[in-house]
Formats: sequence, C-alpha cells, structure tokens
Amino acid sequence: MTAPRPLIAGNWKMNGLAASLAEAKAVAAGLGDTAARVALCPSATLVAQMAWTLKDSAVLVGGQDCHAQASGAHTGDVAAEQLADAGAKLVIVGHSERRADHGETDAAVAAKTLAALRAGLEPIVCVGETLEQRKAGDTLAVVTGQVRGSLPAELAGKAFSVAYEPVWAIGTGLTPTTPEIEDVHRAIRATLTELFGEAGRAVPILYGGSVKPSNAVEILHADEVGGALVGGASLKADDFLGIIRAL
Ligand code: 13P
Repeated sequence: MTAPRPLIAGNWKMNGLAASLAEAKAVAAGLGDTAARVALCPSATLVAQMAWTLKDSAVLVGGQDCHAQASGAHTGDVAAEQLADAGAKLVIVGHSERRADHGETDAAVAAKTLAALRAGLEPIVCVGETLEQRKAGDTLAVVTGQVRGSLPAELAGKAFSVAYEPVWAIGTGLTPTTPEIEDVHRAIRATLTELFGEAGRAVPILYGGSVKPSNAVEILHADEVGGALVGGASLKADDFLGIIRAL
C-alpha cells in the first residue's frame, strides 16, 4: 500500500470576508512544487467565490460542516450537495467546535460523513480529547471511540481523512509533544485498519491544534502524521505556505 499523499487543509472558521480571497490567491500563487494536497475551507458564504478564484490552481476548496440531509426545512444549514454545487471538493465534519457549540454526537457526525459521500465530497472527520479527558488518562479510549462512532462503514473504498485535534491545543498555542501525537495517531491507524482492513493504512491522519510554521517540520514528520488541519495560521498566506513548505 503506497503512503497516502499528505493533506494540508486550512480551516478559516468564522473568519474571512470577500477581501480575504486575496490570501487564498496568494496561497495558490506561492504553492510551487509540493508533495501535499492543499485545501482551504472558508465559511459557506465564501465557498463559491473561493472556488471560482482558485479554479485554475491546485488549491482545493472545502466546507466546514454540512447537514446530514440533501435539502429541506433546516434554516441556516448548508447541505453537502450545496457545497459541492458551489465548487467544494471536501468538507470538514465533526470539528470539536461543532461538537461543543452544537452538541454534535458521533452518530450525527457519521450521518454528516455519509452526506458528504452522497454529494461526492471528501470528508475530513475530526476527533480529539478535552483537557479533562487527557488528564484522566482517557485520550486513546476517547479518540478511538470517536473514530469508531463517527466513521460509517460506507467510507470503505472512498477518499477521506481523519483529523486528530486535541481540544486543548486548538487556538491556545499549546501542542502535545511529538511522542504524544504519535501515540494517538498510531491508535487511530490501528482503529482504521480494524475498520477498513489494509485500505485503512492509506487514510491520511492529519494533526490539528496550534500548527504554525515554527512547529510544522517536527509535527509533519512525526510517525503516522499525514498532514495538518490548520486554523489561525491558515488565515495568512505566508504562514500557511510556511507550513506547506515544512513537508
Ligand atoms: P488552530 O490552528 O487555530 O489552533 O486551530 C486548529 C483547528 O481547530 C483547525 O480545525
């Protein structure tokens, strides 16, 4: 089984206006030769414009969340089909901010993952423990439990990735040590091969949580790290490119 191509995805979260598309353009212009697949995930309001802006570039566009259903009476929600129609190729599901702010359970995340597949989008399924869970020594049980609960069997044979984002490392400047990251990524890999057999070895496992140019080399070269999901540092093209170049 060949090693999966690393994926570096930027999650702009609830940031960015039309003027911010200049940063996306600068990422595309500065990309050069890279082993990575690169994606930017802006708010739903910017997906179509960003996809249009980046249409001749190697940078893919993704959504940050999708509803489980294809259409219907769900005011304020966005269907995976609508993201795909707007030009998205990927979608983040189960981000810890969605799990915390909107009470998304593993089952809800699995339903959204199915919706992404139905719409032809590549899901990036997020998992990660809270500080309390880490302190209690529950990290591996929590994370592998989330992987089992959030990944539907229909992912077999499909392109997708898992993002390990410790909740306490998001936006805090804190990161786990490299051995701590490797422990969790190895546990996720073992769960993926249990669930999907040999194909589970080709699924990129991204790390997310305070990734920046200064720590990207170490993180991206850690065992079983197949890329990064980047928040704050993806808002500025120079920082995001610095992370991509760390591969
Ligand atoms: P930061 O890189 O800002 O810590 O955010 C990580 C994240 O949540 C990406 O999805």
